[in-house]
Amino acid sequence: MHRFACVRDYEEAARGRLRPDVWDFMAGGAGEEITLRDNTAAFGRVRVWPRVLTGVGHVDTTVELLGQVWSAPIGIAPMALHEMCHSDAEIATVRAATAVGLPTVLSAFSSVAVEDVTAASPHANVWQQVYIFKDRQVTASMAERAVVSGVRALVVTVDSPWMGRRHRDIRDGFRFPDGLRSANLSASLSQWADISDPVLHSRSAMDPSLTWTDVEWLAGLTGLPLVVKGILAPDDAERALEAGADAIIVSNHGARQLDRTTAALDALPDVAAVARAGGVPVLLDGGVRSGTDVLIAMALGAAAVLVGRPVLYGLAVAGEAGVHGVLTLLVDELRDAMGLTGCSVTPQVGPELIAPAGLFHPAARPGGAPGSSAVAAEQVAAVRFAKHAQVRGSERTALGLRLKQRYVEGASIRRLAEDLGRSYGFTRNLLAEAGTAFRGPGIRGKVATDDSGSVPLRDSA
Ligand SMILES: Cc1cc2nc3c(=O)[nH]c(=O)nc-3n(C[C@H](O)[C@H](O)[C@H](O)COP(=O)(O)O)c2cc1C
Repeated sequence: MHRFACVRDYEEAARGRLRPDVWDFMAGGAGEEITLRDNTAAFGRVRVWPRVLTGVGHVDTTVELLGQVWSAPIGIAPMALHEMCHSDAEIATVRAATAVGLPTVLSAFSSVAVEDVTAASPHANVWQQVYIFKDRQVTASMAERAVVSGVRALVVTVDSPWMGRRHRDIRDGFRFPDGLRSANLSASLSQWADISDPVLHSRSAMDPSLTWTDVEWLAGLTGLPLVVKGILAPDDAERALEAGADAIIVSNHGARQLDRTTAALDALPDVAAVARAGGVPVLLDGGVRSGTDVLIAMALGAAAVLVGRPVLYGLAVAGEAGVHGVLTLLVDELRDAMGLTGCSVTPQVGPELIAPAGLFHPAARPGGAPGSSAVAAEQVAAVRFAKHAQVRGSERTALGLRLKQRYVEGASIRRLAEDLGRSYGFTRNLLAEAGTAFRGPGIRGKVATDDSGSVPLRDSA
């Protein structure tokens, strides 16, 4: 029997089972697919720095998010028409996710209506993704049906005023296979229930005039938590919080909208800083293909990730069993990655576990080689904490070490505090906790210090 060692094995097996144009639609991205490749490549630019002998006899991958307990920080991203891959469609996907203890975000365009999905998996944790359509009644109806069906969160996708230009689909003249329809959309009595031509459908149903006011409208529509999906810029994260978001998903829509947008992972740290300051969790999707990818996303600030295409690969390979296989693989790989980096519980996964690929770990190398301060400055900048945000545990330790490194290299406490956006006292406390030997008061213009208020000569920021 063929054994699947990793997600790539499922990908290869799925490719052989699907119509070539359906494969292209599913696996492809916008334009020349630079961002599609970058979504996965971004994870490859990060290296992991394990800690040893921490006692990892029992590794617990559980996380708590929006008051829910997940068996691991992994959910299924919303994807249209699972029937493309298997006749059991979302019924199979959600059953598999439920068996593994993970949530599914059901697409607005799911093959199976939300009522039938939740009836088939009574204990499932299902979130409903919606678009704010031109016809707001369709969106409102979908949201209401979600509430009645026991859905636990509403996800609004905000990155799609229309569908991106996907070269593969243009060349293939892609249409969904005959007979495929979205029962979920039809159940909301959409006049655009025919989605056989996805580009035409998006042009007629999506509303390019949407603004944040429309998200505020949705936030007030149901009592469900509202999750905003499709954020890349930190200022958009701020707007999402103002509009009432209870969580944010960093996403470039699996690189299916505009080619050469940033990789999702590269956008994560700054958005996570905003979300943390606002007290809401941030999730990431795009390019997650292994448990180590999940660990890296968590170390950069994600409370959890969503996984897209790999789930469809599993579904195409073996229906419910295939999705179950992909999800258990990812959870097992995450358990491995946690244990082998010295983490026995998810809150221990922090920024000190990772660094950009290269020879040195900036946080662990006080007073290191020339050029190191630039890296450390970048990392401190990436952890810009808003005033009053709590900084605890491993995050606090890692931040203290990074500040210490820059201080040892000549940066002043005042300058570090400025970079951090926090008070002098807070910054000095972090330095003290990191065991920093403070410099004495310097002579203005002569030595590298300003702890007494003078201008530092060698401030490396
Ligand atoms: C075939 C397919 C259909 C998708 N349909 C939707 C959708 O209906 N709504 C949505 O918000 N995102 C949709 N997405 C984007 C995913 O939710 C997610 O952002 C992306 O797939 C994550 O990247 P990954 O596939 O690299 O894991 C779709 C993605 C794929 C591959």
